Amino acid sequence: MRVFRKIGDVLEILVFPHEKIRKGEYLLVEDRSKELSLIVQVIEINYIDAPGMLEDLVREGILKDSIVYENDLVDVGRTTRFLRDTKLATTLIRGSIHRNIFSPVYSDLPSRAFSSVRKISTAEIIKYVRNGSSLKHPIPIGYDFDGNIVYVDAVKLDGCLSLITGMKGSGKSHLAKLLVLSLVEHGAPVIVFDLNGEYVGLGENGRIKVLEAGKNLSFTLSYLGRETVLKLLTNVLGLPGVSANLFNEIWSLAERGRRSITVDYLISVVNNVVKNLMIRDALISRLMILGSSRFISDDENNVTRLEELFRDTKGYIVILKGLSSVERRLLVEVFLSKLTDLLEKELIPPLFLFAEEAHMYVRNTYWEDIITRMRHFGLFVVFITNQPDSLGQQVFRQLDNLFIFRFQNDHDLDMLSRISNIDSDTVKSIAKDLRRGKTLIIGPVVDWIPSVVEVGKLSVNPMGMTKRVFAYSKAT
Ligand SMILES: Nc1ncnc2c1ncn2[C@@H]1O[C@H](COP(=O)(O)OP(=O)(O)OP(=O)(O)O)[C@@H](O)[C@H]1O
Ligand SMILES: [Mg+2]
Repeated sequence: MRVFRKIGDVLEILVFPHEKIRKGEYLLVEDRSKELSLIVQVIEINYIDAPGMLEDLVREGILKDSIVYENDLVDVGRTTRFLRDTKLATTLIRGSIHRNIFSPVYSDLPSRAFSSVRKISTAEIIKYVRNGSSLKHPIPIGYDFDGNIVYVDAVKLDGCLSLITGMKGSGKSHLAKLLVLSLVEHGAPVIVFDLNGEYVGLGENGRIKVLEAGKNLSFTLSYLGRETVLKLLTNVLGLPGVSANLFNEIWSLAERGRRSITVDYLISVVNNVVKNLMIRDALISRLMILGSSRFISDDENNVTRLEELFRDTKGYIVILKGLSSVERRLLVEVFLSKLTDLLEKELIPPLFLFAEEAHMYVRNTYWEDIITRMRHFGLFVVFITNQPDSLGQQVFRQLDNLFIFRFQNDHDLDMLSRISNIDSDTVKSIAKDLRRGKTLIIGPVVDWIPSVVEVGKLSVNPMGMTKRVFAYSKAT
């Protein structure tokens, strides 16, 4: 390989026919006389466009057709073939190493005449950038192009907002499961909103507990408290403002009358005190929806006390599968509202929240609010979605870590390239060529060295298989 030219942060490198490189790989451009190396990442590979190439190709065609080619004494064919198979790699400069010290910038260039270009593994670059410091909570996330294990530091997920995205079946949930298992192993509290019931297998190792509405997940209105119940009525069930004000008073009245508040009891208070028919109906119909939700009960002895969640077990899977869309929204609202409150009061430790297809159960504006406020209190969300445009701009602007799987659709790629701290050329070019299970990781978690990683295997059977008609009919 040879350095050809530099345009801005792009270094173009000639790759000769016997040399093999792949998009996403790293190269080291070394100049020993200056003790200077540039670290560059391949983002595009093309054939060279040498002047006269077309003419040469045509000439070779003519020669091939004629008897002269057989006796090609000066070996014109070989030279043309060499030229034809020489490629031009477009690489982006990711940093430099001067006298063994890495810097994300560069102040000088290696000699074009004397420097050598060689491949360097992603794992090695990351190690170099980390400057030999050992990771506090290493997660072996997968392998680089050369089969070396790539470690990410769980600490760098902490305090961050992360996104796992890619087209259907590209391997997003697989990675999310690996991260959940690893985080829990490192003792970090984690909650997963499991939309498809595909995380239940993580409970097999005994460290993670599966919570299922109506079975081992249940709340009473007394436990939820006025604030949360009011949020359920207004945010999810759309109770208008006037009725919401009245509901506050009704709750106070109910509290005076009896210690434990149930749906039926609230309905009877509403019936007694609310004279306006419309408001009464508005309140009662919504209270009845609450009452029919599988996770609302009157049994004070069977309440899931969220403040006690992380005392022993660190990981929880909240199954949303099988719930109606309203129940799903209500349950998520209960969690978000209670967790927010408990975090603010420092009654629970900071935690990670994994949310699959978050737009299915929480409004965008609400996420934005949570993300902005909750970062300070210690709720760190990992979004998993195949529709990046389902997340609001505000969320996008605050993303720290990105795990991008294969995307083919330009619209999705355009969306991703709007994220700050990310160079769109890298994403667009690399994401299109990723196979299933391979991801491009960007952000603090890989010390800002964009890395293509083949995600590792899971230690448990996650039940994450997408149901297929033919696989199903074969099995039955
Ligand atoms: N790194 C991997 N190693 C082994 N199997 C994998 C890997 N990544 C994904 N798979 C398998 O590929 C299939 C699809 O993966 P996964 O369910 O993670 O995709 P997804 O991106 O979440 O899809 P969807 O958008 O439909 O939710 C699963 O059966 C999963 O077990
Ligand atoms: Mg999935």
